[in-house]
Amino acid sequence: MSGFRIAGVGAALPDKILTNNDLKEFMDTSDEWIKERTGISERRVGSSTLELATNAALQAIERSHLEASQIENIVLATTTPEQLCPGTAPAVANNLGIQCGAFDVQAACAGWVYGLMVANGLLLQGAKNVLLIGAEALDKITDFTDRGTGILFGNGGAATILEASEDATGKILAWDLDSNGALGSILYADHGSNFHMEGREVFKKAVTVIESSVNKVLREADVKPADIKLVVPHQANIRIIELAWRKLGFTMDQTATVLERTGNTSAASIPIALEEAVTEGRVEPGDLVLFVGFGAGMTWASALIEWDAP
Ligand code: UT7
Repeated sequence: MSGFRIAGVGAALPDKILTNNDLKEFMDTSDEWIKERTGISERRVGSSTLELATNAALQAIERSHLEASQIENIVLATTTPEQLCPGTAPAVANNLGIQCGAFDVQAACAGWVYGLMVANGLLLQGAKNVLLIGAEALDKITDFTDRGTGILFGNGGAATILEASEDATGKILAWDLDSNGALGSILYADHGSNFHMEGREVFKKAVTVIESSVNKVLREADVKPADIKLVVPHQANIRIIELAWRKLGFTMDQTATVLERTGNTSAASIPIALEEAVTEGRVEPGDLVLFVGFGAGMTWASALIEWDAP
C-alpha cells in the first residue's frame, strides 16, 4: 500500500444519561465541584461493550463505501471486554455477519492509539482494511458511590475503518508507544473488583507523559504545534488537557473534546471525539491529526497522522 484512507467513522452511546446531579443520590458531591475539577457534566451508562462496539461498527460501515462482508480485520481496544475470555472482537464480527481476523487490544485508555499502530501494521502487511473500534462498559467496574472514580467514568463506543490504497495519502508520520508498569498500582481493577485510583498521582503523571510523548512525536515528524489541524486527546479530565496544552502550545480550538457529555470512556474516548470532529467537517485530506492517550498501566501513546478520506 502507499497509504490509507479513513473510509468511515461511527459512534454509539447508551441511551441512559447519568448527570452530576444524579450522582448526588449516591455520594457527597456537587455539580459545581465535578464540573470545575473535571469538566464533566454527564456520562452514559448501560448497554454493553459488545452492543456499543457493534452499533458503532454498523454506523461506520454504513457511512463507508464498504459492505460488512468486505471487512478483513477487526481490532477492538477495550478495558471491559464482554467476557474475560474470549475477546469481544470475534463476537462483533459475528454480529456483523462476517468471519475475519478479530482480536482485542488491552492498553487501557491508551488502547485505541495502540490499536491504531496495530491496524497500520496489518495494512503494511497487505491487509486491505481494518475496522478499528474502541468500546467500553466502564459502569461494570465503577463504584458510583466512590467520589474519586464514580464521577469520572462512562460507557461508549466508536469505530474507524482504515482502508489501504495505492493512491491514498494517509499515513502515520510519527508515533510513540510507552508504558511504566511500576505505576500499575495507581490505577487498576482486579478480577471481580471496581477501579482503584490514586487520582492526584494519575493526574500528575498524565500531564508529564502527554508532554513528553507529544514532544517526541512532534520532534520526529519535524512538525510545530500550530501545523496540526486537530488534536484528539484521551478525554479524562479537561484540566489535564488544559495543563498539558499550556506546556505544549496547543489551543482548545485545535482540540476535539466530548468529555463534558461522555465522561471518561477509556479506550473509546479518542474515537468518540474523532467521530464527532469528522462529522462536523473539522478535518480534510492533507490535514495533520494528532492522537494522544494515557491511562492504567501506566500506558501512554501518541500518533501523528496525515489525514485522508474518500
Ligand atoms: O484515564 C485516566 C484515568 N484517570 C484520570 O485521568 C484521573 C486523574 N485525576 C483526576 O481527574 C482528579 O484527581 C480527580 C477528579 C479524580 C480528583 O480531583 P482532585 O482535584 O485531584 O481532588 P482531590 O482528590 O485532591 O480532593 C480535593 C478535595 C478533597 O477535600 P479536602 O481534603 O481538600 O477537604 C476531597 O475530599 O476535594 C474533595 N473531593 C470531592 N468533593 C466533592 C474529592 N472528590 C470529590 C467529589 N465531590 N467527587
